[in-house]
Amino acid sequence: MQSWITLGLAVACGFSAVSAAPAVADGFGESEIALVKKNAQTISTHSWELGTLAEALTELESPRLSVFSAHSIPPPAHLKPGEASDVLNLAANIVANKTPSSGPLIDGDGAAGDPASLGAAVLLRNWTREDLSDLSFAQAATGQLKYLLDVVPRVESGPAKGAISQRDPNEPVQLWADYVYMVPPFIAYYGALEGGDNGKANLAEAYNQCRTYRAALFDGNTTTTGGTGNAWAAAGMMRVLTTIANSPFNNAMQKEQSDLKAWINEIFTGAWACQKDKGELYNYIDQDSSFPDSSSTALLAATTFRYISLTQDYTHIVPATRALGWVRKNVDKDGWLLNTVDPESFSTPSGTGTHSPEGQSFVLLLHSAWKAFHGL
Ligand SMILES: *[C@@H]1O[C@H](CO)[C@@H](O)[C@H](O)[C@H]1NC(C)=O
Ligand SMILES: *[C@@H]1O[C@H](CO)[C@@H](O)[C@H](O)[C@H]1NC(C)=O
Repeated sequence: MQSWITLGLAVACGFSAVSAAPAVADGFGESEIALVKKNAQTISTHSWELGTLAEALTELESPRLSVFSAHSIPPPAHLKPGEASDVLNLAANIVANKTPSSGPLIDGDGAAGDPASLGAAVLLRNWTREDLSDLSFAQAATGQLKYLLDVVPRVESGPAKGAISQRDPNEPVQLWADYVYMVPPFIAYYGALEGGDNGKANLAEAYNQCRTYRAALFDGNTTTTGGTGNAWAAAGMMRVLTTIANSPFNNAMQKEQSDLKAWINEIFTGAWACQKDKGELYNYIDQDSSFPDSSSTALLAATTFRYISLTQDYTHIVPATRALGWVRKNVDKDGWLLNTVDPESFSTPSGTGTHSPEGQSFVLLLHSAWKAFHGL
């Protein structure tokens, strides 16, 4: 998770000198990925870690169910035996342990937005359940949506008017970049599945959340730009973009899609221009006194491969491929991602022997995005 930071670094670094075609980077091995996954499952405990893991498991284990697949909306009513069992079991655990009267799917440690990161998995569980009399998943997802839309306070004026706070209702309104991964993809998926006027309105709301967060946080001329915050924002907008594109509202929402593409691209352009020699991004992307961070490097590379697959725009293929190569070197023989930022301090490397739960999931996202890009 990333603290309040600004997005974008359009002029901070200048363009990278590297322009040669990438060496063909080999992807991860499946046995390596199995270890990364097991470790991710073992150490993910917080709401946003579990939500990111749920998305990573969906993309990894059943790509046809992830929004990046053209025919994913709506999901099939019946799955193959055992299909997507890890993510569906995770969703079942969350709903079984949920306080019945609460809106959020899980305790968010003060963050109103983070529990919503589990919402897509809960919706998937609802749509693919065998017991049609079980309404618990639909009710939990709807309760989570209503809580966000009706209870959590919003920015009341200015360019970010309407942005839903990332913090609980008893705290002042705050906008954090990681919200863009936690909330808008869920609202978008809910709307895409819902269809009709309400569904379209929810897709528009997801887009508006991206728009207002960008209005508040994007600064094309800034310092102390956090790597993970930028990557979360790009990755969240990428999921909203692809959800709209694969929804019944693809034609009706072209303007929204072109805006989202531009906003994702401005993050790519700014961040990859600051990429270092080995392919790494620094934790504070444009500060040479900062340190290499494999988490943000992995998530931004994953997002870049997804973006290229959707748009066929290869502008950022070189840095994404270099980033993949560097991240691979940072996964040790036991499946741990090394050289991560400490996801709870935001500003220091993970301590010796400790690992980043979200970083583990970002490797899975990168692997899935890379495979899809290569049609594997
Ligand atoms: C839950 O799934 C059913 C299909 O089994 C669908 O009709 C319903 O709209 C879903 N609920 C939500 C909130 O998506
Ligand atoms: C960009 O940063 C420079 C150096 O700090 C400053 O002089 C300039 O006014 C800033 N421009 C904008 C548009 O914020």
